[in-house]
Amino acid sequence: MYKKKIKEILIGTNNKGKLREIRDLIPKRVKVLSLKNISANHPKETSKTFIGNSYLKAKYYSKLMNKICLADDSGLEIDLLNKAPGIYSARWSGKNKNFNLAIKKIFKKIQDKDLNWKKRKIKARFKCALTIYGPGLKTISVIGKIEGTISNKKLGNKGFGYDPIFIPKGKKITFGQMEPKVKHRIDHRQKAFKQIRKFF
Ligand code: IMP
Repeated sequence: MYKKKIKEILIGTNNKGKLREIRDLIPKRVKVLSLKNISANHPKETSKTFIGNSYLKAKYYSKLMNKICLADDSGLEIDLLNKAPGIYSARWSGKNKNFNLAIKKIFKKIQDKDLNWKKRKIKARFKCALTIYGPGLKTISVIGKIEGTISNKKLGNKGFGYDPIFIPKGKKITFGQMEPKVKHRIDHRQKAFKQIRKFF
């Protein structure tokens, strides 16, 4: 049984969107610290797994600031591409974070595997790993996922990253066409957060 409730937490991300989303999911009585105004180098994401990368980020920022830290790692796995882009999801968009390019790359790789892919269901899932690491704390790592398929064209502009090509299972529209409020009720980040809420 986990006794110590967390009262203060550093969020190990430089992404403002993620910080906002995570802040919204943490109870208001917990003090949330960010990396804002801290000119830290980022750790290299050298692990081959989402959990591994979330762990190394949480540990790195925790040791740097001597605080309990929550870090995440997320991405899209496509079965036909042997789970690519996976942990390389952000890296496929290049230095300029160009997701048009990353999506084109995905379509090209799928097409190379199967010329008839547009008539098939191409199975995929988003995953989000979260790790909480800190002084005097037993490390916590969880993973949330949402299954779905790849749309045969880019649809919608409400989301970010790979949202315009991901259709969650049981729905007829992409994450990119979905109201953010609706997406956030069912997505991988929300599912991961549900598992760690009890620690706050
Ligand atoms: P991270 O910052 O290393 O976790 O990289 C995650 C990458 O995965 C992002 O840059 C996005 O490309 C992709 N990704 C993760 N979650 C989502 C999502 O909810 N929608 C769209 N793309 C996502």
